[in-house]
Amino acid sequence: MKKNPEALYNLEFFKNRRTRLAQLMKSTDVLVLFSTPEYYRNADVPHNHRQDSSLFYLSGFEESHSIFVFCPGQKTESVLFVQKKDSLKETWDGFLFGAEGAKEQFAMDEAFENTEFESKALDLLAHAQKVYTNAEYGSKDGITLHTILKQIQKRKGRSGLGLMTVADSLAVMGPLRVKKTEEEIQILRKSCQISAEAHKAMMHAVRPGISERELHGIFLYEIMKRGAQREGYSAIVASGSHATTLHYKTNHDICQDGELLLVDAGGEYNYLTADITRTYPVNKKFTSEQKDLYERVLDVQKTMIAAVKPGAHFKALNEQVISLLVDHMLELKLFKLSKDEVINKRLYTKYYPHSLGHFLGMDVHDVGAYYSSDLTVPKAFEAGNVLTIEPGLYIPKDDDQAPKGLRGLGIRIEDDILVTQDAFEVLTHDCPKDPSDLP
Ligand code: GLY
Ligand code: MN
Ligand code: MN
Repeated sequence: MKKNPEALYNLEFFKNRRTRLAQLMKSTDVLVLFSTPEYYRNADVPHNHRQDSSLFYLSGFEESHSIFVFCPGQKTESVLFVQKKDSLKETWDGFLFGAEGAKEQFAMDEAFENTEFESKALDLLAHAQKVYTNAEYGSKDGITLHTILKQIQKRKGRSGLGLMTVADSLAVMGPLRVKKTEEEIQILRKSCQISAEAHKAMMHAVRPGISERELHGIFLYEIMKRGAQREGYSAIVASGSHATTLHYKTNHDICQDGELLLVDAGGEYNYLTADITRTYPVNKKFTSEQKDLYERVLDVQKTMIAAVKPGAHFKALNEQVISLLVDHMLELKLFKLSKDEVINKRLYTKYYPHSLGHFLGMDVHDVGAYYSSDLTVPKAFEAGNVLTIEPGLYIPKDDDQAPKGLRGLGIRIEDDILVTQDAFEVLTHDCPKDPSDLP
């Protein structure tokens, strides 16, 4: 079997993560993670499988129809349930580790075939008082956690107690995954660098007449050439007024002379993704109105990046960016109202409908709490957090209140930022954004 030459199968990397998880959980807690289901495109043709982020995070195991059970501090702590080896299936769909292979290759205490999940889980969960899981309280992959919990309850006899508490696995996986380790930061640096190169290739290739689709193809080629397994999300390649559709992903129009192109795309390398947006002219020359709007957004973006440091939080940054962007909206004559009115009535959402950013990691909108559990206290950034800073301004093309030259312009600039001990590091620094640096 061929192996990925880098961290994908580095057992210590995954073991260290489990050690850190054990420190966050009680000995009466158990974690049960189900793999991402197989999604079918049609008939017997599945979409490419991509492992559940948390399951991969803790095990490195990529096969579908698998379940990872973690019982911190128990003699059998890490257990994988996997598909059984099946030479006929493997002829069609490729290598399977099987239970024995999974135990050995992924340094598990035990591994079983997934058909044994119900019976083995009864023992693994017998001591538990709380189960963290990514399965809905019901079933996933045809296997019901609920049934298992019922049986465990029954086994305890007449205790008068209900089912053990079921909690969302994000409660333990969030705090763990939101703080990136040095190895994870190295991988993220590579995802960001790969993605920056791919964005640059698109900047070189863009010209009037090229399709958004071809540009998307260039992005995919460039990230995969550099080792990315896939995109971290569906790329947005939006020419002209398509850029004002925040989640535009049809990507099949033709880039026209005089338009801007907005590209929001990120490559995933070893299960960590970049998330970069750049906006630039199709014909490589900004009009004065485009340049003015672009430089306003760029200025705001740089100010907001400079505000990232340990102790800062999204709530304050979101308030700051709204204030800055509303100043620009007023200068651009998008409103003839007071700043307070535009902010208090949230009128600015017409031109800036999203928020400043989000945590980034294995998932583009990654896990991690933004507030305390009662939603009253914003969560302060800590060294090791990675987040995006992505302000934008979008003027609908049919907005007859906006100056004519601005209608249909959509600009977003997005970088990926690591919170360091005393401030920040821009992981996507290789991707040009100053007009004089654009190819
Ligand atoms: N690419 C999705 C986002 O920027 O949030
Ligand atoms: Mn983003
Ligand atoms: Mn993005």
